[in-house]
Amino acid sequence: MVLTTLLLSVLCASSLALLSYGQPEPLENPNSSDLLGTCNQIAAAISGASQVFFPPAPEYLSDIEHATPSSTEASACSVEPGSAEDVGDILRILGSTRTPFAVKGGGHILNPGFSSTSGVQIAMTRFNQTKLNSMTSTVDVGAGLIWDQVYKTLEPTGVNVIGGRISGIGVAGFTLGGGYLFLSSQYGLTLDNVVGYELVLPNGTVANVTSEDDDLWFGLRGGFNNFGIVTKFTFKTYPQGNVWGGIRFYSDNQLDAIKEALIKYQQKIDTKASVGVSLSYSSGQFLCSVLFLYDAPTPSGVYDDFLEIPATGGNVSTTTFFDFFQSLAPQGAFDNRRVFEDTASVIQYSPAVFDAFVDQTNLWGSRLWALDENMTLILTLEPFDKGLFSHGSASAYPPDRSRAIFPSSHTFEWSNASLDDTMAFALRNMSNTIHAAALADGQDVSHAALYPNYALFGTPLEDMYGGNVERLRKIRAAIDPEDVMGLSGGWKF
Ligand SMILES: Cc1cc2nc3c(=O)[nH]c(=O)nc-3n(C[C@H](O)[C@H](O)[C@H](O)COP(=O)(O)OP(=O)(O)OC[C@H]3O[C@@H](n4cnc5c(N)ncnc54)[C@H](O)[C@@H]3O)c2cc1C
Ligand SMILES: *[C@@H]1O[C@H](CO)[C@@H](O)[C@H](O)[C@H]1NC(C)=O
Ligand SMILES: *[C@@H]1O[C@H](CO)[C@@H](O)[C@H](O)[C@H]1NC(C)=O
Ligand SMILES: *[C@@H]1O[C@H](CO)[C@@H](O)[C@H](O)[C@H]1NC(C)=O
Ligand SMILES: *[C@@H]1O[C@H](CO)[C@@H](O)[C@H](O)[C@H]1NC(C)=O
Ligand SMILES: *[C@@H]1O[C@H](CO)[C@@H](O)[C@H](O)[C@H]1NC(C)=O
Ligand SMILES: *[C@@H]1O[C@H](CO)[C@@H](O)[C@H](O)[C@H]1NC(C)=O
Ligand SMILES: *[C@@H]1O[C@H](CO)[C@@H](O)[C@H](O)[C@H]1NC(C)=O
Ligand SMILES: *[C@@H]1O[C@H](CO)[C@@H](O)[C@H](O)[C@H]1NC(C)=O
Repeated sequence: MVLTTLLLSVLCASSLALLSYGQPEPLENPNSSDLLGTCNQIAAAISGASQVFFPPAPEYLSDIEHATPSSTEASACSVEPGSAEDVGDILRILGSTRTPFAVKGGGHILNPGFSSTSGVQIAMTRFNQTKLNSMTSTVDVGAGLIWDQVYKTLEPTGVNVIGGRISGIGVAGFTLGGGYLFLSSQYGLTLDNVVGYELVLPNGTVANVTSEDDDLWFGLRGGFNNFGIVTKFTFKTYPQGNVWGGIRFYSDNQLDAIKEALIKYQQKIDTKASVGVSLSYSSGQFLCSVLFLYDAPTPSGVYDDFLEIPATGGNVSTTTFFDFFQSLAPQGAFDNRRVFEDTASVIQYSPAVFDAFVDQTNLWGSRLWALDENMTLILTLEPFDKGLFSHGSASAYPPDRSRAIFPSSHTFEWSNASLDDTMAFALRNMSNTIHAAALADGQDVSHAALYPNYALFGTPLEDMYGGNVERLRKIRAAIDPEDVMGLSGGWKF
């Protein structure tokens, strides 16, 4: 009975959660309803390097495909631009016809409508070059690549980039939103490791953006698709030797020991070290796992407390970076389930905050599993070094670099589409509860920015970009007076 009442109150309250998917406003221009006409206009304008596809062409299907069905939409057509100039022509046509569109890199953002659309789907897949410049220790990376491809190309070269952790994630969205990874304590966020962008401005002009360009340089580092479409990123490279790492699984009777190990770890972080502690609930079972990566063949003593705890499975070993990355591939598989994500930012994974994560995992895990047998919750806690944000200069995100904050990832996976609103409500409730636990613990998190690559749709811009919102709005208005990029979804300034 109690459970039923709780579930009913969740279901009733849930319509409040769906304020906005971040999708563009309804259309005003009568021409915009002529989607097929726009598709044909694009097809006639672009060069031979690019192509428009209609359903059910296999290219169309892969162009609209996303990490999960909950963020995949059927567009009128898809276009694969093959040159920056063609991206410019496409943007001019979309702008003049006021046609809604979406830009997809790896298609891994979990918010519906952020890189999907019922209008024109732009898939960046033809921007697929990885070009190393050993003279400048930089690498040019096409905006259509996923990190897997970049790592594979770089593997024999002995250098690496500061990129994604899990298989399948796009370079573009990850970099434009921030990029937290194993090596962030050592080198910062991925956006701190960009030295240049090739950007197609909203009016179709192709530009190179570097630290010389005050406003665009600031905005692109955290500002996603508000300022145009990026076709190429140039990243710093670093020497990459063998690493030590892997995943270990623990039963729930080891939770106290894991908590203690995590607390001690945060006191002695070594910048070459990273851990991700995942708490999950699936099929009525609570599970804990710890992902380790040490950027050298042998770890310092930084993991000793974790390694003393008996594991139920998993392994750690010394391997190449690429083999380690590939061994994590199963972690990125959603098995065709629907997925939403949200986040909380804390200053420290203290005992009280850790307990809140565990309680919330159990509470919502059991409630939601009762609604969908395929429900899985995964909450990941990732501490970094205190110098996390000291590796870069002012950027759209994070709005405050004066102290480190750690974004946790809260992921819900399920099958039944009629539960989408319930899931969004529960996720937000969970993140708010964890935030409240950090405040109650005495942590100064009332203005701790949320990470826009993890935040659930509907999160206010101020909660992610803080005091930067006003400047970002001004930059957007100057660069895109016709609001062309407003025809695509995502966080909008
Ligand atoms: C399994 C999984 C693991 C993850 N792990 C991490 C992690 O370890 N660390 C971390 O920081 N994040 C992580 N994320 C979050 C990830 O950073 C975001 O989902 C990111 O946006 C994905 O990039 P994408 O190119 O695949 O996304 P897309 O969905 O293709 O794009 C995301 C946004 O960027 C915009 N965009 C894409 N390409 C361009 C372009 N060329 N020009 C302008 N705008 C563009 C899109 O329009 C959209 O708004 C993870 C996500 C998943 C699903
Ligand atoms: C609609 O499209 C036609 C043909 O492309 C163009 O001549 C006309 O100006 C457009 N109307 C508006 C309101 O943009
Ligand atoms: C890049 O894309 C082109 C098609 O546009 C294809 O011919 C080529 O094989 C791709 N290269 C890589 C490295 O994937
Ligand atoms: C951008 O930089 C590249 C490499 O330096 C150069 O070839 C290209 O012409 C530049 N493009 C623009 C639009 O300035
Ligand atoms: C762990 O073991 C599995 C199977 O034995 C192997 O495929 C994987 O590469 C190993 N991972 C690491 C990091 O050693
Ligand atoms: C759970 O997933 C399985 C396998 O994909 C599917 O057959 C089943 O219908 C799903 N259950 C629900 C409640 O949707
Ligand atoms: C999906 O959820 C709805 C609403 O909660 C429920 O009525 C329906 O039976 C569920 N479907 C399945 C396959 O469980
Ligand atoms: C979470 O939801 C419950 C109702 O299920 C409500 O009582 C509680 O106040 C909510 N907490 C937060 C922090 O939103
Ligand atoms: C396009 O926008 C940029 C940036 O605002 C501006 O410098 C450029 O002159 C514009 N180009 C055209 C053709 O209007």
